[in-house]
Amino acid sequence: MKVFIDTLGCQMNRLDSELVAAALRRDGHELLAARDGADAVLYNTCSVRKHAEQKVLSRLGVDARQRAEGRRLIVGVMGCMAQRLGEKLRRANRPVDILCGPGQLHALPEMLAAAAAGRPATALDPPRTQPPDQAAEAAMDRLDAGRDPHAGESSARAFIRVARGCDNFCTYCIVPYVRGPERSRDPRAIVEEARRLAGAGRGEITLIGQTVNRYTWTAGERTVRFSDLLARVSAVAGVRRLRFVTSHPLDFTDDILHAMRDLPNVVEYIHCPAQSGSDRMLKAMNRKYTRAAYDELLARAREIVPEVVLAGDFIVGFPGETEEDHAASAELIRRARYKNCFVFKYSPRPGTAAAKTLTDNVSDAVKRRRNNELLAVQQEAGLAHHRAYIGRTLEVLVEGPSPQTRKPAAAHFGRPQLVGRSRWDHVVIFDGPAQLAGQYVDVEITGAASVTLFAVLRGNDESLNRPE
Ligand code: SAH
Ligand code: SF4
Ligand code: F3S
Repeated sequence: MKVFIDTLGCQMNRLDSELVAAALRRDGHELLAARDGADAVLYNTCSVRKHAEQKVLSRLGVDARQRAEGRRLIVGVMGCMAQRLGEKLRRANRPVDILCGPGQLHALPEMLAAAAAGRPATALDPPRTQPPDQAAEAAMDRLDAGRDPHAGESSARAFIRVARGCDNFCTYCIVPYVRGPERSRDPRAIVEEARRLAGAGRGEITLIGQTVNRYTWTAGERTVRFSDLLARVSAVAGVRRLRFVTSHPLDFTDDILHAMRDLPNVVEYIHCPAQSGSDRMLKAMNRKYTRAAYDELLARAREIVPEVVLAGDFIVGFPGETEEDHAASAELIRRARYKNCFVFKYSPRPGTAAAKTLTDNVSDAVKRRRNNELLAVQQEAGLAHHRAYIGRTLEVLVEGPSPQTRKPAAAHFGRPQLVGRSRWDHVVIFDGPAQLAGQYVDVEITGAASVTLFAVLRGNDESLNRPE
Protein backbone atom coordinates (compact mmCIF):
# COMPACT_ATOMS: atom_id res chain seq x y z
CA MET A 1 0.00 0.00 0.00
CA LYS A 2 0.96 3.63 -0.43
CA VAL A 3 0.87 5.20 3.01
CA PHE A 4 1.08 8.84 4.04
CA ILE A 5 1.82 9.65 7.67
CA ASP A 6 0.67 13.15 8.60
CA THR A 7 2.55 14.22 11.72
CA LEU A 8 1.47 16.93 14.14
CA GLY A 9 2.75 17.72 17.62
CA CYS A 10 6.10 17.49 19.31
CA GLN A 11 9.39 15.71 18.65
CA MET A 12 7.98 12.56 20.30
CA ASN A 13 5.53 12.34 17.44
CA ARG A 14 8.21 13.04 14.85
CA LEU A 15 10.24 10.14 16.22
CA ASP A 16 7.19 7.89 16.50
CA SER A 17 6.31 8.59 12.87
CA GLU A 18 9.84 7.70 11.82
CA LEU A 19 9.65 4.39 13.69
CA VAL A 20 6.22 3.55 12.30
CA ALA A 21 7.35 4.45 8.77
CA ALA A 22 10.32 2.09 9.10
CA ALA A 23 8.09 -0.73 10.38
CA LEU A 24 5.64 -0.24 7.51
CA ARG A 25 8.44 -0.16 4.95
CA ARG A 26 9.71 -3.44 6.35
CA ASP A 27 6.23 -4.80 5.73
CA GLY A 28 6.51 -3.84 2.06
CA HIS A 29 4.51 -0.62 2.09
CA GLU A 30 5.59 2.52 0.27
CA LEU A 31 5.73 5.73 2.33
CA LEU A 32 4.62 8.91 0.57
CA ALA A 33 5.68 12.48 1.31
CA ALA A 34 2.18 13.88 0.66
CA ARG A 35 -1.34 12.58 0.76
CA ASP A 36 -2.00 12.59 -3.00
CA GLY A 37 -2.36 9.06 -4.27
CA ALA A 38 -2.29 7.47 -0.84
CA ASP A 39 -4.16 4.24 -0.10
CA ALA A 40 -3.93 4.97 3.59
CA VAL A 41 -3.50 8.15 5.62
CA LEU A 42 -2.30 7.87 9.20
CA TYR A 43 -2.56 10.95 11.39
CA ASN A 44 -0.05 11.10 14.21
CA THR A 45 -1.90 13.48 16.46
CA CYS A 46 -1.40 15.96 19.28
CA SER A 47 -3.86 16.97 22.01
CA VAL A 48 -1.86 19.68 23.70
CA ARG A 49 -4.11 22.50 22.46
CA LYS A 50 -7.56 22.52 20.94
CA HIS A 51 -6.20 23.95 17.72
CA ALA A 52 -4.00 20.87 17.11
CA GLU A 53 -7.02 18.63 17.47
CA GLN A 54 -9.21 20.78 15.24
CA LYS A 55 -6.71 20.47 12.41
CA VAL A 56 -7.03 16.71 12.49
CA LEU A 57 -10.81 16.80 12.77
CA SER A 58 -11.04 18.98 9.70
CA ARG A 59 -8.69 16.68 7.73
CA LEU A 60 -10.79 13.70 8.82
CA GLY A 61 -13.78 15.59 7.44
CA VAL A 62 -12.08 15.87 4.05
CA ASP A 63 -11.28 12.14 4.11
CA ALA A 64 -14.87 11.29 5.00
CA ARG A 65 -16.18 13.35 2.08
CA GLN A 66 -13.74 11.73 -0.34
CA ARG A 67 -14.76 8.29 0.86
CA ALA A 68 -18.41 9.20 0.50
CA GLU A 69 -17.57 10.12 -3.11
CA GLY A 70 -16.10 6.68 -3.63
CA ARG A 71 -12.36 7.10 -2.96
CA ARG A 72 -10.83 4.03 -1.40
CA LEU A 73 -8.82 5.34 1.50
CA ILE A 74 -7.90 3.80 4.82
CA VAL A 75 -7.94 6.35 7.61
CA GLY A 76 -6.01 5.89 10.83
CA VAL A 77 -5.53 8.07 13.89
CA MET A 78 -2.59 7.38 16.16
CA GLY A 79 -0.93 9.22 19.02
CA CYS A 80 -2.23 11.47 21.74
CA MET A 81 -5.60 12.39 20.26
CA ALA A 82 -6.45 8.77 19.54
CA GLN A 83 -5.68 8.04 23.17
CA ARG A 84 -7.62 11.02 24.51
CA LEU A 85 -10.78 10.57 22.47
CA GLY A 86 -10.76 6.86 21.65
CA GLU A 87 -14.01 5.61 20.16
CA LYS A 88 -15.47 9.12 20.33
CA LEU A 89 -13.43 9.87 17.22
CA ARG A 90 -15.54 7.40 15.28
CA ARG A 91 -18.83 8.72 13.99
CA ALA A 92 -21.13 7.66 11.22
CA ASN A 93 -20.00 10.66 9.17
CA ARG A 94 -16.37 10.34 10.25
CA PRO A 95 -15.02 6.89 9.54
CA VAL A 96 -11.78 5.97 11.32
CA ASP A 97 -10.45 2.50 10.49
CA ILE A 98 -7.50 2.52 12.85
CA LEU A 99 -7.30 3.93 16.37
CA CYS A 100 -3.86 3.52 17.88
CA GLY A 101 -2.62 4.92 21.20
CA PRO A 102 0.94 6.28 21.52
CA GLY A 103 2.04 3.15 23.40
CA GLN A 104 0.69 0.70 20.81
CA LEU A 105 2.51 1.80 17.69
CA HIS A 106 4.21 -1.58 17.29
CA ALA A 107 0.77 -2.95 16.36
CA LEU A 108 0.26 -0.57 13.44
CA PRO A 109 1.46 -2.85 10.62
CA GLU A 110 -1.01 -5.51 11.77
CA MET A 111 -3.77 -2.94 12.21
CA LEU A 112 -3.19 -1.66 8.70
CA ALA A 113 -3.53 -5.18 7.33
CA ALA A 114 -6.78 -5.63 9.28
CA ALA A 115 -8.15 -2.34 7.98
CA ALA A 116 -7.24 -3.34 4.42
CA ALA A 117 -9.32 -6.48 4.96
CA GLY A 118 -12.25 -4.33 6.02
CA ARG A 119 -11.89 -4.83 9.77
CA PRO A 120 -11.58 -1.67 11.88
CA ALA A 121 -8.74 -1.97 14.39
CA THR A 122 -8.32 -0.42 17.82
CA ALA A 123 -5.41 -0.52 20.28
CA LEU A 124 -5.35 2.02 23.09
CA ASP A 125 -3.14 2.32 26.15
CA PRO A 126 -4.56 1.46 29.57
CA PRO A 127 -5.47 4.60 31.57
CA ARG A 128 -2.62 5.59 33.87
CA THR A 129 -4.59 4.52 36.92
CA GLN A 130 -4.27 0.92 35.74
CA PRO A 131 -1.12 -1.21 35.69
CA PRO A 132 0.99 -0.71 32.56
CA ASP A 133 0.60 -3.09 29.63
CA GLN A 134 3.93 -4.91 30.00
CA ALA A 135 3.72 -6.71 26.68
CA ALA A 136 3.07 -3.44 24.85
CA GLU A 137 5.95 -1.73 26.70
CA ALA A 138 8.32 -4.49 25.63
CA ALA A 139 7.05 -4.33 22.04
CA MET A 140 7.53 -0.55 21.99
CA ASP A 141 11.09 -1.00 23.26
CA ARG A 142 11.69 -3.37 20.37
CA LEU A 143 10.29 -0.75 17.98
CA ASP A 144 12.91 1.75 19.19
CA ALA A 145 15.68 -0.83 19.19
CA GLY A 146 14.75 -2.19 15.78
CA ARG A 147 14.67 1.15 13.99
CA ASP A 148 16.38 1.50 10.63
CA PRO A 149 19.20 3.94 11.40
CA HIS A 150 19.36 5.05 7.78
CA ALA A 151 15.70 5.98 7.39
CA GLY A 152 14.54 9.24 8.85
CA GLU A 153 13.64 12.85 8.22
CA SER A 154 17.35 13.74 8.13
CA SER A 155 20.48 11.90 7.05
CA ALA A 156 22.58 13.70 9.66
CA ARG A 157 20.31 14.09 12.68
CA ALA A 158 18.17 11.77 14.79
CA PHE A 159 16.04 11.73 17.90
CA ILE A 160 16.46 9.13 20.60
CA ARG A 161 13.79 8.68 23.22
CA VAL A 162 15.19 8.46 26.73
CA ALA A 163 11.90 8.43 28.59
CA ARG A 164 8.21 8.05 27.96
CA GLY A 165 5.33 9.76 29.71
CA CYS A 166 5.22 12.45 32.35
CA ASP A 167 4.41 12.61 36.07
CA ASN A 168 4.49 16.36 36.54
CA PHE A 169 0.80 17.13 36.15
CA CYS A 170 1.13 20.78 35.30
CA THR A 171 -2.52 21.70 35.75
CA TYR A 172 -3.06 22.84 32.14
CA CYS A 173 -1.41 19.85 30.47
CA ILE A 174 -2.91 16.76 28.85
CA VAL A 175 0.40 14.94 28.31
CA PRO A 176 0.46 12.90 31.57
CA TYR A 177 -3.00 11.56 30.71
CA VAL A 178 -2.29 10.57 27.14
CA ARG A 179 1.35 9.53 27.38
CA GLY A 180 1.04 7.76 30.71
CA PRO A 181 3.42 7.62 33.67
CA GLU A 182 7.05 8.60 33.32
CA ARG A 183 9.42 5.70 32.68
CA SER A 184 13.06 5.93 31.64
CA ARG A 185 14.67 3.55 29.19
CA ASP A 186 17.61 1.27 29.86
CA PRO A 187 20.78 3.31 29.23
CA ARG A 188 22.35 0.37 27.38
CA ALA A 189 19.54 0.45 24.83
CA ILE A 190 19.98 4.22 24.43
CA VAL A 191 23.73 3.94 23.92
CA GLU A 192 23.27 1.10 21.44
CA GLU A 193 20.78 3.20 19.48
CA ALA A 194 23.22 6.11 19.44
CA ARG A 195 25.95 3.80 18.19
CA ARG A 196 23.83 2.54 15.32
CA LEU A 197 22.62 6.02 14.35
CA ALA A 198 26.06 7.60 14.53
CA GLY A 199 27.42 4.65 12.54
CA ALA A 200 24.86 5.44 9.86
CA GLY A 201 26.09 9.04 9.68
CA ARG A 202 23.45 10.54 11.93
CA GLY A 203 25.88 12.00 14.43
CA GLU A 204 23.70 14.88 15.59
CA ILE A 205 21.65 13.23 18.29
CA THR A 206 18.80 14.78 20.26
CA LEU A 207 17.74 12.96 23.39
CA ILE A 208 14.05 13.51 23.96
CA GLY A 209 11.69 13.19 26.89
CA GLN A 210 8.89 15.32 28.31
CA THR A 211 11.14 16.07 31.27
CA VAL A 212 14.35 14.84 29.75
CA ASN A 213 16.57 16.07 32.57
CA ARG A 214 14.71 13.93 35.08
CA TYR A 215 15.91 10.76 33.38
CA THR A 216 16.96 8.17 35.93
CA TRP A 217 17.65 4.44 35.74
CA THR A 218 18.38 2.21 38.68
CA ALA A 219 19.92 -1.23 38.38
CA GLY A 220 20.88 -2.89 41.65
CA GLU A 221 22.98 -0.45 43.66
CA ARG A 222 23.71 1.87 40.76
CA THR A 223 21.71 4.81 39.57
CA VAL A 224 22.29 6.36 36.17
CA ARG A 225 21.38 10.04 36.31
CA PHE A 226 20.75 12.21 33.26
CA SER A 227 24.28 13.64 33.47
CA ASP A 228 25.66 10.07 33.48
CA LEU A 229 23.59 9.28 30.42
CA LEU A 230 24.97 12.38 28.67
CA ALA A 231 28.49 11.17 29.42
CA ARG A 232 27.76 7.70 28.06
CA VAL A 233 26.12 8.86 24.85
CA SER A 234 28.69 11.59 24.24
CA ALA A 235 31.41 8.93 24.35
CA VAL A 236 29.89 7.01 21.44
CA ALA A 237 32.13 7.25 18.37
CA GLY A 238 30.65 9.51 15.71
CA VAL A 239 28.35 11.49 18.00
CA ARG A 240 29.24 14.97 16.86
CA ARG A 241 26.61 17.04 18.61
CA LEU A 242 24.46 15.90 21.50
CA ARG A 243 21.28 17.85 22.31
CA PHE A 244 18.40 17.23 24.66
CA VAL A 245 14.85 18.56 25.05
CA THR A 246 12.73 19.46 26.96
CA SER A 247 14.06 20.31 30.40
CA HIS A 248 12.02 21.08 33.49
CA PRO A 249 13.46 23.88 35.66
CA LEU A 250 12.92 21.84 38.81
CA ASP A 251 15.32 19.08 37.74
CA PHE A 252 18.20 21.13 36.38
CA THR A 253 20.91 20.08 38.80
CA ASP A 254 24.53 21.24 38.63
CA ASP A 255 25.83 17.85 37.48
CA ILE A 256 23.96 18.38 34.19
CA LEU A 257 25.46 21.86 33.78
CA HIS A 258 28.90 20.42 34.51
CA ALA A 259 28.34 17.76 31.86
CA MET A 260 27.44 20.51 29.37
CA ARG A 261 30.57 22.40 30.27
CA ASP A 262 32.92 19.40 30.24
CA LEU A 263 31.72 17.17 27.40
CA PRO A 264 32.78 18.81 24.14
CA ASN A 265 30.04 17.35 21.96
CA VAL A 266 27.19 18.19 24.37
CA VAL A 267 25.84 21.47 23.05
CA GLU A 268 25.38 24.46 25.32
CA TYR A 269 21.69 24.86 24.63
CA ILE A 270 18.84 24.58 27.12
CA HIS A 271 15.17 24.62 26.26
CA CYS A 272 13.71 25.09 29.70
CA PRO A 273 10.16 26.49 29.70
CA ALA A 274 9.22 28.97 32.42
CA GLN A 275 5.50 29.09 31.41
CA SER A 276 5.04 32.27 33.47
CA GLY A 277 7.07 34.89 35.29
CA SER A 278 4.55 35.22 38.11
CA ASP A 279 4.63 33.11 41.27
CA ARG A 280 0.87 33.18 41.54
CA MET A 281 0.51 31.64 38.07
CA LEU A 282 3.35 29.16 38.58
CA LYS A 283 1.57 27.91 41.67
CA ALA A 284 -1.78 27.63 39.91
CA MET A 285 -0.03 25.77 37.09
CA ASN A 286 1.58 23.36 39.58
CA ARG A 287 5.02 24.05 38.16
CA LYS A 288 6.56 23.48 41.61
CA TYR A 289 9.19 26.24 41.35
CA THR A 290 9.14 29.95 42.03
CA ARG A 291 10.17 32.79 39.80
CA ALA A 292 13.20 33.33 42.02
CA ALA A 293 14.22 29.69 41.57
CA TYR A 294 13.92 30.02 37.79
CA ASP A 295 15.99 33.22 37.80
CA GLU A 296 18.55 31.45 39.94
CA LEU A 297 18.69 28.54 37.47
CA LEU A 298 19.39 30.87 34.55
CA ALA A 299 22.11 32.65 36.52
CA ARG A 300 23.66 29.31 37.53
CA ALA A 301 23.54 28.07 33.94
CA ARG A 302 25.27 31.21 32.66
CA GLU A 303 27.89 30.99 35.35
CA ILE A 304 28.77 27.32 34.87
CA VAL A 305 28.31 27.24 31.08
CA PRO A 306 29.34 30.70 29.87
CA GLU A 307 28.30 30.17 26.23
CA VAL A 308 24.91 28.76 27.13
CA VAL A 309 21.97 29.63 24.87
CA LEU A 310 18.46 29.50 26.28
CA ALA A 311 15.00 28.95 24.87
CA GLY A 312 11.66 29.04 26.63
CA ASP A 313 7.92 28.51 26.49
CA PHE A 314 5.21 30.74 27.95
CA ILE A 315 1.48 30.37 28.33
CA VAL A 316 -0.65 33.53 28.26
CA GLY A 317 -4.19 33.78 29.57
CA PHE A 318 -4.06 30.98 32.12
CA PRO A 319 -7.17 31.27 34.33
CA GLY A 320 -6.92 34.26 36.65
CA GLU A 321 -3.90 35.79 34.89
CA THR A 322 -3.89 39.53 35.64
CA GLU A 323 -2.08 42.33 33.83
CA GLU A 324 0.42 42.25 36.66
CA ASP A 325 1.10 38.51 36.16
CA HIS A 326 1.43 39.15 32.44
CA ALA A 327 3.88 42.00 33.05
CA ALA A 328 5.98 39.60 35.15
CA SER A 329 6.21 37.22 32.18
CA ALA A 330 7.24 40.08 29.89
CA GLU A 331 9.85 41.17 32.37
CA LEU A 332 11.23 37.64 32.62
CA ILE A 333 11.57 37.41 28.84
CA ARG A 334 13.35 40.77 28.80
CA ARG A 335 15.82 39.59 31.40
CA ALA A 336 16.33 35.98 30.35
CA ARG A 337 17.92 36.84 27.00
CA TYR A 338 16.39 33.79 25.32
CA LYS A 339 17.43 32.92 21.80
CA ASN A 340 13.81 32.14 21.07
CA CYS A 341 10.58 31.65 22.90
CA PHE A 342 7.35 29.86 22.12
CA VAL A 343 4.25 31.63 23.39
CA PHE A 344 0.93 29.78 23.60
CA LYS A 345 -2.58 30.94 24.39
CA TYR A 346 -4.01 28.85 27.19
CA SER A 347 -6.32 26.18 25.83
CA PRO A 348 -8.39 24.26 28.39
CA ARG A 349 -7.89 20.51 27.98
CA PRO A 350 -10.78 18.36 29.19
CA GLY A 351 -9.83 16.19 32.14
CA THR A 352 -6.91 18.31 33.36
CA ALA A 353 -6.99 19.90 36.81
CA ALA A 354 -7.20 23.41 35.38
CA ALA A 355 -10.10 22.54 33.11
CA LYS A 356 -11.93 20.84 35.95
CA THR A 357 -11.44 23.44 38.69
CA LEU A 358 -10.70 26.79 37.05
CA THR A 359 -12.72 28.96 34.71
CA ASP A 360 -11.11 29.93 31.43
CA ASN A 361 -11.79 33.57 32.29
CA VAL A 362 -9.30 35.47 30.14
CA SER A 363 -11.02 36.42 26.90
CA ASP A 364 -9.57 35.34 23.60
CA ALA A 365 -8.96 38.97 22.63
CA VAL A 366 -6.89 39.51 25.76
CA LYS A 367 -5.00 36.24 25.21
CA ARG A 368 -4.20 37.36 21.70
CA ARG A 369 -2.98 40.76 22.84
CA ARG A 370 -0.82 39.24 25.57
CA ASN A 371 0.53 36.69 23.13
CA ASN A 372 1.54 39.48 20.73
CA GLU A 373 3.04 41.52 23.52
CA LEU A 374 5.26 38.68 24.72
CA LEU A 375 6.28 37.93 21.15
CA ALA A 376 7.19 41.59 20.64
CA VAL A 377 9.37 41.58 23.75
CA GLN A 378 11.03 38.38 22.59
CA GLN A 379 11.53 39.79 19.12
CA GLU A 380 13.65 42.55 20.56
CA ALA A 381 15.51 40.17 22.87
CA GLY A 382 16.02 37.71 20.02
CA LEU A 383 17.44 40.42 17.78
CA ALA A 384 19.92 41.47 20.46
CA HIS A 385 20.87 37.83 21.01
CA HIS A 386 21.47 37.13 17.35
CA ARG A 387 23.32 40.41 16.68
CA ALA A 388 25.98 39.41 19.16
CA TYR A 389 27.08 36.68 16.71
CA ILE A 390 27.82 39.04 13.81
CA GLY A 391 31.42 38.67 12.75
CA ARG A 392 31.83 35.23 14.29
CA THR A 393 32.47 32.05 12.34
CA LEU A 394 30.11 29.23 13.23
CA GLU A 395 29.97 25.64 12.18
CA VAL A 396 26.54 24.76 10.90
CA LEU A 397 24.89 21.52 9.91
CA VAL A 398 23.26 22.21 6.56
CA GLU A 399 19.63 21.12 6.58
CA GLY A 400 18.85 21.96 2.96
CA PRO A 401 17.24 24.72 0.92
CA SER A 402 15.60 27.40 3.05
CA PRO A 403 11.78 27.44 3.04
CA GLN A 404 11.85 30.61 0.89
CA THR A 405 13.82 28.82 -1.80
CA ARG A 406 11.49 25.86 -1.72
CA LYS A 407 8.59 28.04 -2.83
CA PRO A 408 8.07 27.53 -6.55
CA ALA A 409 8.10 31.29 -7.23
CA ALA A 410 11.66 31.46 -6.01
CA ALA A 411 12.77 28.44 -8.05
CA HIS A 412 15.76 29.76 -8.50
CA PHE A 413 18.30 31.47 -10.62
CA GLY A 414 21.81 31.04 -9.36
CA ARG A 415 22.47 29.37 -6.08
CA PRO A 416 19.83 28.34 -3.66
CA GLN A 417 19.54 29.74 -0.19
CA LEU A 418 20.45 27.14 2.38
CA VAL A 419 19.47 26.85 5.99
CA GLY A 420 21.73 25.36 8.61
CA ARG A 421 21.87 25.03 12.39
CA SER A 422 24.64 26.08 14.70
CA ARG A 423 25.47 23.92 17.71
CA TRP A 424 23.37 26.37 19.75
CA ASP A 425 20.41 25.74 17.47
CA HIS A 426 20.62 29.08 15.66
CA VAL A 427 18.90 29.09 12.29
CA VAL A 428 21.52 30.31 9.80
CA ILE A 429 20.69 31.35 6.22
CA PHE A 430 23.38 31.51 3.53
CA ASP A 431 23.91 30.89 -0.18
CA GLY A 432 25.50 27.66 -1.28
CA PRO A 433 25.08 24.55 -3.40
CA ALA A 434 22.22 22.25 -2.46
CA GLN A 435 24.51 19.22 -2.25
CA LEU A 436 25.88 20.55 1.03
CA ALA A 437 22.73 19.26 2.73
CA GLY A 438 23.67 16.96 5.59
CA GLN A 439 27.21 18.35 5.89
CA TYR A 440 28.93 20.57 8.42
CA VAL A 441 30.38 23.79 7.01
CA ASP A 442 31.88 26.94 8.47
CA VAL A 443 30.01 30.17 7.81
CA GLU A 444 30.76 33.74 8.73
CA ILE A 445 27.86 35.58 10.31
CA THR A 446 27.12 38.84 8.49
CA GLY A 447 23.63 39.77 9.66
CA ALA A 448 20.95 39.05 12.20
CA ALA A 449 17.19 39.11 12.62
CA SER A 450 15.10 38.14 15.63
CA VAL A 451 15.03 34.41 14.89
CA THR A 452 17.73 33.98 12.22
CA LEU A 453 21.33 34.66 11.38
CA PHE A 454 22.57 35.47 7.87
CA ALA A 455 25.97 34.29 6.77
CA VAL A 456 28.42 33.64 3.96
CA LEU A 457 30.08 30.34 3.37
CA ARG A 458 33.72 30.15 4.39
CA GLY A 459 36.48 27.75 3.57
CA ASN A 460 39.17 27.14 1.01
CA ASP A 461 37.10 24.94 -1.24
CA GLU A 462 36.55 27.47 -4.03
CA SER A 463 34.20 25.13 -5.85
CA LEU A 464 31.67 25.83 -3.11
CA ASN A 465 31.75 29.54 -3.86
CA ARG A 466 31.37 29.30 -7.62
CA PRO A 467 27.89 29.79 -9.00
CA GLU A 468 26.50 26.59 -10.54
N1 SAH B 1 7.12 18.40 28.32
C1 SAH B 1 7.44 19.59 27.69
C2 SAH B 1 6.47 19.99 26.58
C3 SAH B 1 5.05 20.04 26.91
S1 SAH B 1 3.97 20.60 25.67
C4 SAH B 1 7.60 20.62 28.77
O1 SAH B 1 7.15 20.44 29.87
O2 SAH B 1 8.23 21.60 28.49
C5 SAH B 1 4.81 22.01 25.00
C6 SAH B 1 4.32 23.32 25.49
O3 SAH B 1 2.96 23.49 25.23
C7 SAH B 1 4.43 23.54 26.99
O4 SAH B 1 5.71 23.91 27.39
C8 SAH B 1 3.42 24.62 27.23
O5 SAH B 1 3.99 25.90 27.11
C9 SAH B 1 2.41 24.42 26.12
N2 SAH B 1 1.13 23.89 26.60
C10 SAH B 1 0.89 22.71 27.21
N3 SAH B 1 -0.41 22.59 27.52
C11 SAH B 1 -1.02 23.72 27.08
C12 SAH B 1 -2.37 24.21 27.12
N4 SAH B 1 -3.35 23.50 27.68
N5 SAH B 1 -2.62 25.41 26.57
C13 SAH B 1 -1.63 26.14 26.01
N6 SAH B 1 -0.35 25.74 25.96
C14 SAH B 1 -0.04 24.55 26.50
FE1 SF4 C 1 2.99 18.76 30.45
FE2 SF4 C 1 4.20 19.76 32.56
FE3 SF4 C 1 4.66 17.22 31.81
FE4 SF4 C 1 5.59 19.24 30.34
S1 SF4 C 1 6.19 18.78 32.44
S2 SF4 C 1 4.53 17.41 29.60
S3 SF4 C 1 4.01 20.80 30.55
S4 SF4 C 1 2.73 18.03 32.57
FE1 F3S D 1 1.16 16.80 21.66
FE2 F3S D 1 1.30 14.40 22.62
FE3 F3S D 1 3.51 15.73 22.10
S1 F3S D 1 -0.15 15.94 23.23
S2 F3S D 1 2.91 17.85 22.45
S3 F3S D 1 2.04 15.07 20.63
S4 F3S D 1 3.17 14.32 23.76
